[in-house]
Amino acid sequence: MAKPDESPFDLATPGASALLESLRGVGYAPWTAIADLVDNSVAAGAKRLWISFVWRGASSCIRILDDGSGMDRATLVEAMRPGSRSPREARSPHDLGRFGLGLKTASFSQCRVLTIASRTVGGELVERHWDLDHVRHSDAWQLLKGIPRDVTDEAAIPDDLESGTVVLWTHLDRMVGTSSENDQAARARFFEIARQVERHLAMTHHRFLSGSHPQLRIYFNGLSEQARISPWDPFMQWHPATIATPLERIPYKGTVVEVQGFVLPHRDRLSDSEYDTGAGPEGWLAHEGFFVLRGGRVLVYGGWLALGGGRRWGRDELHRLARIRIDLPNSLDDEWKIDIRKSMATPPALLRPRLRGLAERVRADARDVLAHRGGRSSRAPSESLVRAWICHASQDGASYRIDRSHPSVLRGLDAAGAAAPMVEDMLRIIEATVPVQRIWLDATEHGEFSSPKAMEEPDAPLAASLQSLFRHMTEDLHLAEAEAIRRLLAIEPFSNYPSAVRALGSEHKPK
Ligand SMILES: Nc1ncnc2c1ncn2[C@@H]1O[C@H](COP(=O)(O)OP(=O)(O)OP(=O)(O)O)[C@@H](O)[C@H]1O
Ligand SMILES: [Mg+2]
Repeated sequence: MAKPDESPFDLATPGASALLESLRGVGYAPWTAIADLVDNSVAAGAKRLWISFVWRGASSCIRILDDGSGMDRATLVEAMRPGSRSPREARSPHDLGRFGLGLKTASFSQCRVLTIASRTVGGELVERHWDLDHVRHSDAWQLLKGIPRDVTDEAAIPDDLESGTVVLWTHLDRMVGTSSENDQAARARFFEIARQVERHLAMTHHRFLSGSHPQLRIYFNGLSEQARISPWDPFMQWHPATIATPLERIPYKGTVVEVQGFVLPHRDRLSDSEYDTGAGPEGWLAHEGFFVLRGGRVLVYGGWLALGGGRRWGRDELHRLARIRIDLPNSLDDEWKIDIRKSMATPPALLRPRLRGLAERVRADARDVLAHRGGRSSRAPSESLVRAWICHASQDGASYRIDRSHPSVLRGLDAAGAAAPMVEDMLRIIEATVPVQRIWLDATEHGEFSSPKAMEEPDAPLAASLQSLFRHMTEDLHLAEAEAIRRLLAIEPFSNYPSAVRALGSEHKPK
């Protein structure tokens, strides 16, 4: 009879093939996967990175070469091991990694063969590859030495690099499958993915790519300066019409979390190309809300982090100009529940009220800028704008009233004399029936909140109202023309037509 097993444990070694195939389902997009590799290069001190998408039908490949510190044999073998480092281990502040998994999970999400060649300064070239088909047949953790025969050129590290690493993806079953080289539709899809990768990296690593001496230069499908990826600043800090809240530095568990809110300029303040660029890789709506950066790298790029008043805030047209930056150090990964793909973060309970407070302010400002075409926000200098409508926000929702002190309204009421109560009835009917839902639907459908974009000239009836009010001011109220013009420039809707208002003095000399 066999002796009973006296060992206090059973060895539950994962099945190599089953585990590696399952890791493929972590849910990376091609661009998030490549961003993970860029993180590794940055952590290895790379200053330059060359990313190439090479189309060859089913034999296409994606190659990422960096000039970082490279790896020796032992480090490379360790790097290829899933779970190479524990997430509990403290990391240097500049290390963008956490789980010891990214290289493998990101790569296998896109390809079946992952090859790495690397060289340290003065070290020898080392090469290894994982081949998921080999692992499937052997069902063993066999990391293959050398490189596959068909990639000798791509896996080479140029001689002029002192040190560096090439990561090579081949057998891109999910991206190109078995497409033939002449399949134009597949080729177009492949290069569309490449473009999306480029846009994505411009966002995720924008801080590394910015400045006249950027920390990192990424060359995309080319070697020239034209092939260099330009950073995309989600907060449009360079634009004079961007409104920023003061930078807040919140001490948290021995570290500091930085937060700052931004309200981006209204469309009317942007050129067409600025507006298109401002939209970002996924569009205005997708990018409204919080941007969470960890170690300077963007992890979360939009959304409201499950914050909100009674209900969680969703993304909506009304707040699409609001973007809030949160900067985290990598020591808070656990607190913020950073996920393996580095694409999610959850604020800890202690910080939620503070973030919600800031978000409420930024959201209100964003609504204001959107509704008043920019520059008319409560924070803008033109504070004294006289509006025709006043919005009252209460717990039961918003209500809208016509401002009786608006000069045109006031004048009408004064002139009505005994009929004033009837005019008042009329105003109340208008106020009680503002078609809010209808306006809301129209505005969302057309993606814009205001009337026509270019408002150089008022239409004829409005021009007549403007002239009539100007005459009233100068003739009945005896204001100097310059003073009347100054006031009209700050009265809605005439404030939208400054050139027509300024032209008044010359056209309408009192006869
Ligand atoms: N381009 C590179 N240059 C030098 N070393 C690298 C490079 N890419 C990966 N490595 C090494 O491989 C290790 C494993 O990388 P991997 O991405 O799997 O995990 P990680 O970066 O430590 O953590 P995470 O799972 O959060 O990305 C890294 O810690 C690093 O030592
Ligand atoms: Mg990594």
